Amino acid sequence: MHTDFEKIKQEALTKINLALDLGMLDEVRNVYLAKKGLVMSLMGRIKDLSPDEKRVFGQAINELKKVLEEALFARHETLSTIALNEKLENEKLDLSLPGKEPFIAPQHPFHLIKDEISDIFIGMGYQIAEGQEVEEDYFNFTLLNMPENHPARDMQDSLYIDNKRLLRTHTSPVQAREMQKNKNKPLKIISPGKVYRRDDDMTHSHQFGQVEGLVIGEGLSLGNLKATLDLFVKKMFGPKREIRFRSSYFPFTEPSVEVDVSCHECNGKGCSTCKGTGWIEILGAGMVNPNVLTMNGYDPTRFSGFAFGIGIERVAMLRFGIDDIRRFYQNDVRFLDQFPKR
Ligand code: FA5
Repeated sequence: MHTDFEKIKQEALTKINLALDLGMLDEVRNVYLAKKGLVMSLMGRIKDLSPDEKRVFGQAINELKKVLEEALFARHETLSTIALNEKLENEKLDLSLPGKEPFIAPQHPFHLIKDEISDIFIGMGYQIAEGQEVEEDYFNFTLLNMPENHPARDMQDSLYIDNKRLLRTHTSPVQAREMQKNKNKPLKIISPGKVYRRDDDMTHSHQFGQVEGLVIGEGLSLGNLKATLDLFVKKMFGPKREIRFRSSYFPFTEPSVEVDVSCHECNGKGCSTCKGTGWIEILGAGMVNPNVLTMNGYDPTRFSGFAFGIGIERVAMLRFGIDDIRRFYQNDVRFLDQFPKR
């Protein structure tokens, strides 16, 4: 039996070198080196040979196997490198291409103005005090000079959780909480947050925001309150805006005032925006009632103070010319998209 090992080898090496990718190379490997491949079938023939022939034939098969394995390995290396280079070439990143702009939501006008109000007062040396939205009736009313059955409680129709707790109707309970914490020490705080009332029309919402302000010290007067709010209004609405104090009533301040800002549309002459008056109301304020000072741990013969409660949506409506407070809570993207991004 004659087997031309040289011819088999040359044919195999040619096929190996002609394999253009790793798949083709695997096919060649299977033809020669798989379990049912040529090399194994040649080995199967050894058993029929004489001992001398076995040795020569066996050596020739081993030699063939070794040469093919080496050639397959070398070709495998070459084809892998080619494949890798092709992949790298195809996946090349062009870093000069403009990126996809990430979606950044505009700021909600409520938060935009809440932050702006806070920044103005922080700039005047105020510290932020935290309050709580579920509040005890005692802090919301009693400690603010509105004992049970006081008719002033009716001014703020309230949403009760149980017979002691309610959704706070204003941020003023923070005044009582801060005074209780600081007894007879000077105070200068603001407290922005949400409040709740049974209200619902174009300028009144059942949920809205206020920024409470409270300053306690020695020798404070209504003049300090007026200067503070005048500066606030000028920073918020521009240097031409004036403020006006109108006498009012809050049980926790004495005297009490409603504060109006001169109309931005007509500069105080009177137009439809200000209902012909030239002024628009934005907040309630006053000198802290001595009863409130006493109830919350301050000596009213030594300390005096002023407080204010700014309506956040009301300020935002004036700043941006928003006609209906309900727009703040309807989540209409056409409305929300008009405000600047962070
Ligand atoms: C108060 O809530 C007092 N706590 C303010 C205060 C604080 C007075 C400290 C004195 C000292 P008033 O109910 O007026 O006051 O509300 C204050 C501001 O909140 C109003 O000027 C208005 O801007 C806003 N506001 C009141 N009710 C609503 C409502 N339903 N929807 C939107 N804004 C409102």
